[in-house]
Amino acid sequence: MTRTPVALYGAAGYGGQELLRILSNHPLLRVAVATSQRHAGRPVEAVLPQLEGFYPDLAFQSPRAPLAVRCEAVLLATPHGVSHKLFAALLERDPDLKVVDLSGDFRLHDEARFHAAYGAERSLPSAAAKFAYGSTETNREAIHAARWVANPGCFATGAILALGPLAERGLLQGDVTLAQTTGSSGSGADPKPATHHPERAQDLRAYKVLAHQHEPEVAQELERLGAGGFDLGMVPLSGPFSRGIFTVASLRVDAAVDVAALYRERYSGEFFVRLRSESPALRHVVRTNFCDLSIHRRGERVVVLTAIDNLGKGMATQAVQNLNLILGLDERAGLLAPGANP
Ligand SMILES: NC(=O)c1ccc[n+]([C@@H]2O[C@H](COP(=O)([O-])OP(=O)(O)OC[C@H]3O[C@@H](n4cnc5c(N)ncnc54)[C@H](OP(=O)(O)O)[C@@H]3O)[C@@H](O)[C@H]2O)c1
Repeated sequence: MTRTPVALYGAAGYGGQELLRILSNHPLLRVAVATSQRHAGRPVEAVLPQLEGFYPDLAFQSPRAPLAVRCEAVLLATPHGVSHKLFAALLERDPDLKVVDLSGDFRLHDEARFHAAYGAERSLPSAAAKFAYGSTETNREAIHAARWVANPGCFATGAILALGPLAERGLLQGDVTLAQTTGSSGSGADPKPATHHPERAQDLRAYKVLAHQHEPEVAQELERLGAGGFDLGMVPLSGPFSRGIFTVASLRVDAAVDVAALYRERYSGEFFVRLRSESPALRHVVRTNFCDLSIHRRGERVVVLTAIDNLGKGMATQAVQNLNLILGLDERAGLLAPGANP
């Protein structure tokens, strides 16, 4: 069977490399175009040796050149502030293109919220309203019907899966605290002070406390699901590991509500969300599309824990899940790999 061609922008970045790895094994899709500014013209396998044997005929092309092959869909694994410009240029050349954007450019529908989170203007603000928010398990029908998907942020994914079932039942109220620890690959492939090994490997610190740009998209999605009257506070932490996001969500819920039963019922048909009786572990979800989740309670106090891979469910694998949906494929195609231990 011929595999449908897709294009990948930002293919040499961490998310792009992960997408190349996953799509090399996809039964129905193939990467026909991969862009990189700094590696344009070089064979993909020469730049990314871990992919040797899987892309013998593919060379990086410049993101400024027209697509060398006509593609059904495009993945934009590019920084925010870049994706919206690429999107405008691509759609001008081919208005039928399907797009999954992994940046924050189209996640927030409200301009004021966008401006507060990213401190910038974006071209095509009206296009944002036409992007389905790509939290697959909470917004599947809209994604299926969409042509363009704004893939969620990594912290946002861990948070929404932790709180979505309560939001859908109108049970998310009052103070909600999210303590979320991420691995260093969350900052991308270019070295930065925050990812420098000697300073990060033996340390733990918080950053952007109550001011992270993913907080508004979590609030937006929880409101859309039915929550109101809640006050969200996100505390992001830099963990001493390279991949994964561990979320601790704390809140109060009426003691009469059987929260564990509610989550069991809500996620019973969701292949990629696995309920655990004890704490989830990052090592079981890294390099997969799984979110492992556990619920703990004492009286009204409820703690929900989630573990995801920031480059997996928090990014590349969820993007493939969404790409499958907008192309009318089985959403699990190319993603059926179990976790590992250790
Ligand atoms: N890392 C995560 O855990 C994570 C999770 C969820 C979402 N995201 C989002 O996903 C996107 C990519 O993240 P990442 O971690 O993969 O970042 P990254 O490692 O920095 O990769 C971004 C890639 O975009 C390309 N690029 C930069 N400026 C460009 C431009 N003007 N035109 C075309 N291409 C350009 C880059 O380089 P070359 O073209 O020179 O090769 C680079 O390879 C970001 O928006 C990020 O916020 C990241």
